[in-house]
Amino acid sequence: MGGESDNAILEQLQDLDRRHHLHPFTDAQALTQATPFLIDHGQGAYVTGQGVRLLDAMAGLGCVNVGYGRAEIAQAAAEAIQALSYYHSFFAVSNPYTAALAGKIAALAPDHLNKVFFANSGSEANETLMKLALLYWRAKGKANKRIFITRDYSYHGSTIAVTRLNGNQAMLDDFGLGLDDGVKRAMAPYWYRCGKDMSADEFGLFAAKDIETKILEAGADNVAAVIAEPVQGTMGGIVPPKTYWPEVERICREHGVLLIADEVVTGFGRTGNWFAQETFGFNADMMALAKGLSSGYAPISAAVISDEIASTIEQNTKILQHGFTTSAHPVTSAIALKNIDILEQEHLVENIRDNLGPLFGKSMVGLEDHPLVGEVRVNGLIAGVELTRNKETREQFPLEANVCNHVSQMALLRGLIVRPAGNVLVLCPPFIIKPAEIEFMTNILRDSLDETYRVLSAA
Ligand SMILES: Cc1ncc(COP(=O)(O)O)c(C=O)c1O
Repeated sequence: MGGESDNAILEQLQDLDRRHHLHPFTDAQALTQATPFLIDHGQGAYVTGQGVRLLDAMAGLGCVNVGYGRAEIAQAAAEAIQALSYYHSFFAVSNPYTAALAGKIAALAPDHLNKVFFANSGSEANETLMKLALLYWRAKGKANKRIFITRDYSYHGSTIAVTRLNGNQAMLDDFGLGLDDGVKRAMAPYWYRCGKDMSADEFGLFAAKDIETKILEAGADNVAAVIAEPVQGTMGGIVPPKTYWPEVERICREHGVLLIADEVVTGFGRTGNWFAQETFGFNADMMALAKGLSSGYAPISAAVISDEIASTIEQNTKILQHGFTTSAHPVTSAIALKNIDILEQEHLVENIRDNLGPLFGKSMVGLEDHPLVGEVRVNGLIAGVELTRNKETREQFPLEANVCNHVSQMALLRGLIVRPAGNVLVLCPPFIIKPAEIEFMTNILRDSLDETYRVLSAA
């Protein structure tokens, strides 16, 4: 874009968008007055909008792991559309792409997770797992096991059932939704905020114990599952202490409660292993996958269950009363297969574990000397940079002060996309990011923090 007519088209599109597009997680009232930013290209780790090129340290919404604009994925999609543009998977029908993808996921997943139900979003994958957990317990003659244990600062999606699992209270309050009797919330393994007087390892056990407390309060006979993200991405890049996950698994086993890993963000390599269960040393009974399954090239997700759960359901359920028109879509399956092929061919997961992860970690942790930065948490290619008003007391900035928003705006003006989440800047760059781009990103972040510090000091 650039010429006068291009500008006129741009303005027309912005106007159409403002008037007719209700945006997710957006200040709808502000947008009626503001101009939506139109992004129209993406290549590698960069997106371009209105002539401005931006390094995307968010990989979209933590999904574009193989980077933007992959011609081989476009080709795989085009071939699949020409061969079989659609067919469903109801009534025992399948297609070659989905069959191959199910096998591929089972081969990559931890040993005992071998059966896959396909859906379209992370929310749907989690909601599917909730339903499968209920089905499983009913099949075992334990229909009372209906309660789900979740955690503060969690994010599992935005359909009604999974909204109730979230730690974001505004998402419930705005719709008049309560936690109801079906959900109990435990503490998050958020050492910086909640574990000041303990070592990180002590706190990991302490936070796990809170899950046990919630199970006992509800009565283990009433609890279906604990559902949790291995690293809490959306709500602040919260990386748990290493003692946490093995203890959570032990507690679930001891009390006969299923463990559901929401690997929507962490699945397919972000923590330097194919799944974060390997990184943190635990085994879940079920896991949700989405974003990295197709690198965001297509809406596809997967609810993966253990052999024991699958066979219990298969032997006791006449018909699985669940599914979506576009579950197991041939084209989205073909796209996911090609995406996984790229991850394997280019050794992108191993590269995070051996090279990029340590480099990214070192660069991000280097920001901890900044007067505004309280803690930097990193695992693989996900980081939370938490700001504080006082490094000693860890005092939080009031959210209305929008300090993180200011830093991210400063970064945007310098050509970098990072995401503010309360008082935390979240970064989860594409796996194809280059060392020089990590340096560029870190420098921009530091400049943006400096600028914000200057503004705050002058106020
Ligand atoms: C951990 C986690 N689970 C679930 C979801 C929901 O996925 P979707 O937006 O595809 O419904 C997200 C989205 O950010 C997520 O981060």
